[in-house]
Amino acid sequence: MALRQILNDNHPVLRQPAREVIKINSGVLRLLDDMIETMREAEGVGLAANQVGVSKRILIASPDGESIVELINPTCAENEGEEVGVEGCLSIPGQYGEVPRAERIKVKALNREGREIYLEAEGLLARILQHEIDHLDGILFTDKALRMVDPEELQNDKTGEESSDHKGEVKS
Ligand code: NI
Repeated sequence: MALRQILNDNHPVLRQPAREVIKINSGVLRLLDDMIETMREAEGVGLAANQVGVSKRILIASPDGESIVELINPTCAENEGEEVGVEGCLSIPGQYGEVPRAERIKVKALNREGREIYLEAEGLLARILQHEIDHLDGILFTDKALRMVDPEELQNDKTGEESSDHKGEVKS
């Protein structure tokens, strides 16, 4: 495994829709392993392949910092409800914003063995998956944020469950 460089938001690859994975070969598996190491090193909760400069529809998520969800060619099959929550992004360091997302989603994707899987998610995992699928479509959270939030405001806000649990450290 190796660390990869996380690109920042002025890199054009972050604005291009990522390409579908045609074949899950050793390069794709190595990329997944490297993305996990890179996300953990950066203390993020999710990462999309184009954030490390690879235009492939691959994302990972780790809402609890331990278990890992790996999705290849993910598409959002269904979504329900709406919830506003604070997000940050490893490609946009130091910035946070309030972003509306679906509360519950169903995602269809391939796993690393190439099997089709359906995943139902809610709460933080649903938010991360929507953030990462947006990355794969060239969309950043700042495009959708209702307002940006001062990081100091996050540190002081102990009322919202999400912000008090993560103190503005939810970056993906
Ligand atoms: Ni991000």
